[in-house]
Amino acid sequence: MSGGDRRPLVRAVGVRKLFGQTEVLRGVDLEVLRGEVLCIIGPSGSGKSTFLRCINQLETYQGGKIFVDDELIGYEEAAGRLRPLTNRRVVMQRRRIGMVFQQFNLFWHMTVLENIIEAPVRVLGQPVAQARDNAMRLLERVGLGAKADAYPMKLSGGQQQRAAIARALAMSPELMLFDEPTSALDPETTGEVLAVISELASTGMTMIIVTHEMGFARQVADRVVLMEEGQICHQAAPDQFFGEQAPARLKAFLSTIH
Ligand SMILES: Nc1ncnc2c1ncn2[C@@H]1O[C@H](COP(=O)(O)OP(=O)(O)O)[C@@H](O)[C@H]1O
Ligand SMILES: [Mg+2]
Repeated sequence: MSGGDRRPLVRAVGVRKLFGQTEVLRGVDLEVLRGEVLCIIGPSGSGKSTFLRCINQLETYQGGKIFVDDELIGYEEAAGRLRPLTNRRVVMQRRRIGMVFQQFNLFWHMTVLENIIEAPVRVLGQPVAQARDNAMRLLERVGLGAKADAYPMKLSGGQQQRAAIARALAMSPELMLFDEPTSALDPETTGEVLAVISELASTGMTMIIVTHEMGFARQVADRVVLMEEGQICHQAAPDQFFGEQAPARLKAFLSTIH
């Protein structure tokens, strides 16, 4: 982690999320410091994706508060009451946050380069030439300089995911969210994607990474969190987290992975 600024960039306080009658986030409390890399692990269905999606406003949340850079996400407070933000404000908040999904979510009808410049041009109003220069720089960075004009279909899963990372970075986000970025990949291409994420981590980008790659989490994370049944139930620095002193429920979960 880059030293210096230890203020939280993300602050979740008692976050609750319901799907119908089912409470899938049951009071999530979590802080992520600037420059910190946080890995979230936990069983399937424990609410990891939902939590990331609430931070990025792909879902609304019904209780508690999420702050990014001290700004309340999704709501404004007026006369002691919370009111959902207008779409325009949602877009403004969301553009500071990059998200990378398990299934890449590239636009199939656009080349890699077109995928990357789309949001900077449309949302940020960047001139196309500037957006292209920036995109080419990002593609070089993720090792895809030669694939700018390829369509996603022609790329391997690992290449598609690296393109998706470049696309997220093109918005110059303050925060990057990764939701199981390698779980749809072949083992051969997993490593190249993890290498790109590690490189990004070393630059001081604030990141929340949901992953089942325990070796990767141990190596890249400043802190690891176990989520179960919609709550954060354990967190520690990686050496402690994966060490001998891990609580029984964590050891039980880890034993299901290997
Ligand atoms: N759009 C949805 N509608 C209804 N239930 C959902 C929806 N998305 C997720 N869920 C439920 O919420 C719970 C948490 O899901 P999720 O956040 O995807 O867990 P994880 O990412 O930890 O596997 C699961 O029980 C899941 O079935
Ligand atoms: Mg998930």
